[in-house]
Amino acid sequence: MDKLIIEGGRKLHGEIRISGAKNAALPLIAATLLIPGWHVIHNVPDLRDTRTILVLLESLGAIWKREGETLSINTETLNNLEASYDLVKTMRASILVLGPLLARMGKARVSLPGGCAIGARPIDFHLQALTKMGADLDLEDGYVSAFTDDGLSGATICFDVPSVTGTENILMAAVLAKGVTVIKNAAREPEVGNLVDMLISMGADIAGRDTDQLTIHGAKSLMPAEVTTIPDRIETGTYLIAVGAAGGEVTLKNCNPAHLPALLEKLRATGLIIKESVNSIFVSKPSIVHSIDIKTQPYPGFPTDLQAQLMALMSLSNGLSVITETIFENRFMHVAELKRMGAEIQINGNSAIVKGVKQLRGAQVMATDLRASASLVVAGLAAKGVTEISRIYHLERGYENMVEKLQALGARVSKEKD
Ligand code: EPZ
Repeated sequence: MDKLIIEGGRKLHGEIRISGAKNAALPLIAATLLIPGWHVIHNVPDLRDTRTILVLLESLGAIWKREGETLSINTETLNNLEASYDLVKTMRASILVLGPLLARMGKARVSLPGGCAIGARPIDFHLQALTKMGADLDLEDGYVSAFTDDGLSGATICFDVPSVTGTENILMAAVLAKGVTVIKNAAREPEVGNLVDMLISMGADIAGRDTDQLTIHGAKSLMPAEVTTIPDRIETGTYLIAVGAAGGEVTLKNCNPAHLPALLEKLRATGLIIKESVNSIFVSKPSIVHSIDIKTQPYPGFPTDLQAQLMALMSLSNGLSVITETIFENRFMHVAELKRMGAEIQINGNSAIVKGVKQLRGAQVMATDLRASASLVVAGLAAKGVTEISRIYHLERGYENMVEKLQALGARVSKEKD
């Protein structure tokens, strides 16, 4: 396994280009299963997770080629309808092949994704919705076997909580279903909107983009799509927070400030200077980082995927900060590691009380999940001394060329065999 070595205490200067969004690219790639023919997806990041879903699609019979950031995918011949445990266990988002396979082929067998470090992460909403649309589901041997003898039918689905991949799976199932599907309490994340754009470009009839109610009139047939992946708002937020922690002045190119309303408001409240343009953000750090409170919420609230990174910043603030995690039940795995670096954090149920300290100290720490590892990078960039982060395969799931991007900003970061 590899580890990251960061020599902290250096301000960040310069500009970097934000990559396409991991959590948009995954459903866009899954949606190519809906229709045979060549689909083209631009601005696709080359990450562990995007490589995993392409291996999964290959295992189903798809072919693909990458030219730079553009993926061409052809799912003409699907000669296997089973997504194996070996692949699904490495990436829960593999469940996104269930909806499109069922819609197009009338059957699918997908391994149930296990839980993960941040929580149990059930998929009951996905399964309940597909059942309402006429699928027969069998759960056995850790797999869900889904079948529909005469195609899916539209239904009214109401999610208990706005599930992102739940909304995406049902969107893909609904575009080829007979009749009308209404998804209530739908997720409003920009990645869902990116998928809606792709499905509409295939000829789907979808109303309600970016709202909590989506109405889909099933189509008889669709055509292959061409779509561009939106910029990664979580990568954008991670680098903004890194400047807040390490200091300096940075411009982020090819990003979309409109996808980060809650974060930009909160970072300005800490004193960070942020100037937005249509597709770039300039950020510079003031002398003091003021403490703020945050509570994670579904979009457009503060993103749970930036909670760990913000906690690293609040560890260096001038006061007390209360960070409340409302989406996942175990998303404080980074706390113990940050405390090894000198952070003062007390967990109280689903809240963490952070008392800012003058300085963090470099230490040997371990990444436990994707965003926790990003939090340790933020802390390591600011800390005095050297930080070694082990198990950085977590990081490589969701951050394209992070070492090169940080080096371009003047950070002393390198990757070594652990
Ligand atoms: C997506 O996960 C993202 N992943 C996550 O990003 C992100 O943290 C999460 O949305 C919340 O924004 C992708 O898009 C690939 P949910 P998802 O269904 O869809 C509960 C990252 O770091 N729930 O919106 O799996 C669930 O337990 C990853 O990039 C059910 O109970 O999340 C959670 O409490 C981590 N039953 C809440 O809903 C279900 O059937 C929201 O989960 C589905 C969800």
